[in-house]
Amino acid sequence: MKGIVLHAPGGLDRLEQIDMPDPGTPAAGEIRVRLHASSLNYHDYGVVSGRMPTADRRIPMSDGAGVVEAVGDGVTEFAPGDRVVSCFFPGWLEGPPPMADFSTVPGDGVDGYAREAVVRPAAWFTRAPNGFSHAEAATLTTAGLTAWRALVVNGGLKAGDVVLVLGTGGVSIFALQLAKAMGATVIATSSSDEKLERARALGADHTINYRQHEDWGARARDWTGERGVDHVIEVGGPGTLGQSIAAVRIGGHISLIGVLTGRAGEVPTALLMAKQARLQGLIVGNRRHQMDFVRAIDAIGLKPVIDRSFGLEEIADAFRYEESGAHFGKICLEF
Ligand SMILES: NC(=O)c1ccc[n+]([C@@H]2O[C@H](COP(=O)([O-])OP(=O)(O)OC[C@H]3O[C@@H](n4cnc5c(N)ncnc54)[C@H](OP(=O)(O)O)[C@@H]3O)[C@@H](O)[C@H]2O)c1
Repeated sequence: MKGIVLHAPGGLDRLEQIDMPDPGTPAAGEIRVRLHASSLNYHDYGVVSGRMPTADRRIPMSDGAGVVEAVGDGVTEFAPGDRVVSCFFPGWLEGPPPMADFSTVPGDGVDGYAREAVVRPAAWFTRAPNGFSHAEAATLTTAGLTAWRALVVNGGLKAGDVVLVLGTGGVSIFALQLAKAMGATVIATSSSDEKLERARALGADHTINYRQHEDWGARARDWTGERGVDHVIEVGGPGTLGQSIAAVRIGGHISLIGVLTGRAGEVPTALLMAKQARLQGLIVGNRRHQMDFVRAIDAIGLKPVIDRSFGLEEIADAFRYEESGAHFGKICLEF
């Protein structure tokens, strides 16, 4: 079977497609999955570009979706033919987070899903939403579940809330779609007017070009009649957090998700304190969250926005495309 390995020390030209041994038949408690799709995340980019060092010959990609081909003894949750999607933290089944690193994450601490088949414990996967393509299902593992956890699990989103999403990448577009589907009002930012138009077509109620308006956070707050926004999908980090704090309402909620502008920096802590806002760091979510999320998708009929798909052998081009920032929503691999 075909698969991709990343040669140390990483770099897009260090990705190689090779023939890998077949993973064989599942033992007790395991399933064999024929994988058909993965989706790209900024974290996967960090690994393959060599910025987040990993083991030599690591199989990249944390997201995987496909069909169950066989189940081992004792597996009752899945049957051959079921469509499944992988979990970001295979060992975190439910409850509070037990870890603060990526040592168990497929495609980083352990081998991932840039390959045609795997045999893994059944609990490493959940069922995929009804009617989803494999590529659509693959977008849930990281980007989708992060948006769900930020807004619903940690944020307690309710109809009428105002949600601010930063940029138009995978997590933010998921958050926009979820928030609209659940009756919230959405403010979206982007560096591109054309992408803002697409965000409006998806239901964004108000849009701001963050390149043209450095005070986008204050503008978002003003648009709410100075009340401020209830939730911020904070994917930027140090370069954007100040404006996110300017945008949030008193007692509001900021999900600290991303590092697009860097890993450390100055934060206006006094304003955050004065606003009595909740700043919640989070990494994706657990298997129980993913099962709830899949059920919610079945109910609300949300379909992920896939900008473009590439073949497995085109993985480096796919990451170059992500690097260019031209995408809107998700980029996938289909195989
Ligand atoms: N903590 C977690 O659980 C978790 C999970 C997933 C992702 N993340 C993190 O979240 C971030 C986004 O991930 P992703 O996979 O959604 O990435 P992505 O799909 O590559 O999205 C990148 C987009 O972010 C926007 N952006 C870049 N710089 C920005 C800035 N200064 N202000 C506002 N928007 C900006 C751009 O949108 P425009 O082109 O519209 O300007 C860009 O297209 C990354 O840092 C990633 O590591 C964290």
